[in-house]
Amino acid sequence: MHQRLNREAFRTSRLLDFCSAKELQAQTGHEMADWPLVIAKEGVDNALDACEDADIAPAVAIRVDADGITIADNGPGIPTTTVESVLDFNVRVSSREAYVSPTRGAQGNALKTLVAMPYVLSGGRLGTATISAHGMQHHIDFRVDQIRQQPAITYRTSPADRKIGTEIRVGWPDLACSILQQSRGRFLQIVQDYAWLNPNLTLSIDWFGEVLEIAPTDSTWAKWKASDPTSPHWYPPERQQRLIAAQVAHDADNGRDRTVREFVAQFRGLSSTGKQKAVLEALCLSRAALCTRKQWRDRRRCHCRAVRCHEVAVEADQAQASRRHRPQPFRTSLSRARLRNGVLRLSQDRG
Ligand SMILES: Nc1ncnc2c1ncn2[C@@H]1O[C@H](COP(=O)(O)OP(=O)(O)OP(=O)(O)O)[C@@H](O)[C@H]1O
Ligand SMILES: [Mg+2]
Repeated sequence: MHQRLNREAFRTSRLLDFCSAKELQAQTGHEMADWPLVIAKEGVDNALDACEDADIAPAVAIRVDADGITIADNGPGIPTTTVESVLDFNVRVSSREAYVSPTRGAQGNALKTLVAMPYVLSGGRLGTATISAHGMQHHIDFRVDQIRQQPAITYRTSPADRKIGTEIRVGWPDLACSILQQSRGRFLQIVQDYAWLNPNLTLSIDWFGEVLEIAPTDSTWAKWKASDPTSPHWYPPERQQRLIAAQVAHDADNGRDRTVREFVAQFRGLSSTGKQKAVLEALCLSRAALCTRKQWRDRRRCHCRAVRCHEVAVEADQAQASRRHRPQPFRTSLSRARLRNGVLRLSQDRG
């Protein structure tokens, strides 16, 4: 009689989506040879987003040495809770993903990939990364539990001198030093491009002792900031639903109720009481909560409200839009365009 194999349906944890070269290449859209560039691009994007958020002219320092790649900024400093969430590979964490706006960050994914890269580069031994902010250093040792097929992260904190901004160091294992050395030309090209695209940026680069300082050409340069209100016109109904759902879930987690008026008021052009009143009256939701914890259990109703809320908010903004300039299409910087497509388009002939 033929021997039969009774196949088991093995479960593979999605947590390993960040833990192999193949998966990380899929997540970043780049082969391992480009990872130094991915680290530079994602680290500087985050630094610029954070500084612009806080209305601070950005000063970014990039150091590449035997310790790895370090990117420091003078922004508000990444909160400890955000660092902890970054290490939770069950969730994405982003202050940008749910909003429709021209920020660089858009997925809540990049820091996770950066933290996992040293592990993969080490050939599956140990990857290290540190994040310093608010007088605290977060030490991250990344390994994989091969039996349970999930990341096994050792995380501890210690006091640090850095009180201003954030410093992220992605360890670069000796084993992969040739990848780092070969990326030198393109790495330096990419980080210098940021100075062209951001005239208010003070940039300092230290590549194994080879130092380059770039002063800002216009420190008063102003542009749309992540802290500026977003326009209801930017949200198709499904993105409005996404924002409402993210807001409701966040409020539910934090035990907070929010009125529809508070939700409507956050959009550009809808801060005046008169306009909010018009929107709320059209919705028959004058004193309604966006979603109380009771309604949180009734998701369907919440979705209907989201669609209607979007339609009326856009209508209310039409009158104003006809009087003023429609928002101009935003200048899409190279770095934003790269991110939006989820792919760093690096010109092969550079560097
Ligand atoms: N240098 C920094 N200073 C302050 N906050 C930061 C910094 N870097 C990251 N953060 C916070 O950590 C969050 C996660 O960063 P991450 O790069 O993973 O995602 P993102 O920038 O939102 O989206 P994307 O994956 O598209 O880059 C950010 O949304 C931001 O709130
Ligand atoms: Mg980012």
